[in-house]
Amino acid sequence: MTETAETIETPPAIVAMLNQKGGVGKTTLTIHVAGALADRGLDVLVVDLAPEGALTSILGYDEAYSDLDQEVSLHELLLDPSRADGVDDIIITGEEFDLLPANERMVDRTGGELNGEPRARERLKMVLDELATGYDVVLVDNMPNINVLTDNALVASDGVLIPAYAEALSVQGLDRLQKQIDSVREYFGAVRILGIIANRVEHNKQADAMLEQLHSEFEDGLEIPVFDVYKRVDLQRAIAAQERSIFTADELDSDMAEVLADVAALIEAELVREANE
Ligand SMILES: Nc1ncnc2c1ncn2[C@@H]1O[C@H](COP(=O)(O)OP(=O)(O)O)[C@@H](O)[C@H]1O
Ligand SMILES: [Mg+2]
Repeated sequence: MTETAETIETPPAIVAMLNQKGGVGKTTLTIHVAGALADRGLDVLVVDLAPEGALTSILGYDEAYSDLDQEVSLHELLLDPSRADGVDDIIITGEEFDLLPANERMVDRTGGELNGEPRARERLKMVLDELATGYDVVLVDNMPNINVLTDNALVASDGVLIPAYAEALSVQGLDRLQKQIDSVREYFGAVRILGIIANRVEHNKQADAMLEQLHSEFEDGLEIPVFDVYKRVDLQRAIAAQERSIFTADELDSDMAEVLADVAALIEAELVREANE
């Protein structure tokens, strides 16, 4: 086949959801931001790079996660990205977005087996170069850690979203994350922090003060946008009850839809359109 301008596909924009802390909303926000992107008409692939497979599981794919008969899972792909060629049944097609699931084999194995291998941090990028063509956006959910797997997410990604609690402690935690991003930048060039998502914000004076501090520190100081996502049971319920984002509801009545749509709009404006130009 001769390559013409029409047959060359624009590579997807790849966004990593990262924070070395657990329980800050990486997995939850991955789903709702993916839903918001899909709602804008974009083709979205979500990647579960966390060995515990929480994302895969809450989307209802426990079976895929614990399928030990499957010859090639994300574990094998990361160890040998050349196996991604011709593997077309590994991606699960969903109503809103598609999923590249985690597999139980990743627990206690993938990171360790990758360590010390050549180009160990470039594996996800190689896998996505093969599997993710045709998507507009790839969102990568991560484990709460800083290791070779999260380095893979950083190397593959064009931008990073950082969910954090609006507490003083999280600001310190962000320093460590910044160091990881800087160290990856030294080797691989640009990784951009697209935004911070202050998550599970509560309505009280103390929270307001924290938010104000976060906004001034990041928006005014570093020109990194901060999005405020409040503590809302419907963000949990949509996933727990229906394995989907709030954006597929018959009536979109979540008051967090707007801010999540803003995050999606930022990704589209900064990364998708840029790639299409
Ligand atoms: N904005 C929110 N409002 C209410 N509950 C939330 C919100 N964000 C996350 N949660 C809940 O907090 C817990 C931790 O979120 P999770 O997405 O699993 O974090 P992580 O992936 O960073 O470990 C989950 O029970 C999730 O449902
Ligand atoms: Mg998680």
